[in-house]
Amino acid sequence: MSETAVHVGSGKVRELYALDEERLLLVASDRISTFDVVLPTPIPDKGRVLTGLSAFWFARTRDLVPNHMLALRDDGRSLECRRLEMLPVEVVVRGYLAGSGWKDYGATGTVCGHRLPDGLRESDRLPEPIVTPATKATTGHDLNIDEEEAARICGEERYLAAREAALGVYRFGEAHAAARGIIVADTKFELGVDADGAIVLADEVITPDSSRFWPADSYEPGRAQPSYDKQFVRDWCETTGWDKTAPGPELPDAIVSGTSARYIEAFEQLTEIPFDEYVSDPRIVIA
Ligand SMILES: Nc1ncnc2c1ncn2[C@@H]1O[C@H](COP(=O)(O)OP(=O)(O)OP(=O)(O)O)[C@@H](O)[C@H]1O
Ligand SMILES: [Mg+2]
Repeated sequence: MSETAVHVGSGKVRELYALDEERLLLVASDRISTFDVVLPTPIPDKGRVLTGLSAFWFARTRDLVPNHMLALRDDGRSLECRRLEMLPVEVVVRGYLAGSGWKDYGATGTVCGHRLPDGLRESDRLPEPIVTPATKATTGHDLNIDEEEAARICGEERYLAAREAALGVYRFGEAHAAARGIIVADTKFELGVDADGAIVLADEVITPDSSRFWPADSYEPGRAQPSYDKQFVRDWCETTGWDKTAPGPELPDAIVSGTSARYIEAFEQLTEIPFDEYVSDPRIVIA
């Protein structure tokens, strides 16, 4: 790391350093958070998977939507990026009915203000992807809001540009993944505004942390889907009786190694690059 990097913040997963006025260094740790609580046990190689996958998508969608990536460092977990004014909402795109979307649909027939057709089953593909924004809670859980409120919070023009960018990247990623046996059921984007007022894709993109990935070969609507991503840890946490407030439980070895393997498997399936090749030369994901 450059000697002039100044630590400016810690997210649940990333450490943020300012390189200068315009540039940030985002370093993805191996920390894992579930239900918005960071667990005490790290997942080996997880940070590299997140940074590598994000860089892979940034490189492939830059003609669709401008993004913050400037350079990927040799450690495979550090990304130099443009420093942006982040929008105060997260832009979630859902192509399938799962998680809080399925719960809300069951209760009201709607998801964040979107009325959906009657008779949908859990995990069904939606007729069209929908955008369900959430506020970025500084503590505790993010809160789902409807798109009108997101437009009020961000300014309508900014919000509309952000939702179009998010939908475009989701459609691209969903099609790429589907052709490689992975369903991207939903995913969360964070966007910012650059000095010229343009909307820029930031943070991480279509990773196992920000998305629900389902194996396509065992997909069967009408039930929750098995998944090889963070859901594996969430499901284990659900069996412990943990009340989902800090501190979270220590993960057993089998859950740690199983989770690490799932992150790496998702990376390899989506990028078609062996993970050890990424580790020895990270820039192959953006070549
Ligand atoms: N280009 C950027 N400019 C400014 N801030 C950014 C940029 N890209 C990402 N960020 C911010 O950096 C932080 C990344 O850290 P991290 O992902 O650990 O945070 P988090 O949001 O607390 O965790 P989680 O993803 O689990 O919700 C986020 O606050 C994100 O909004
Ligand atoms: Mg984050």
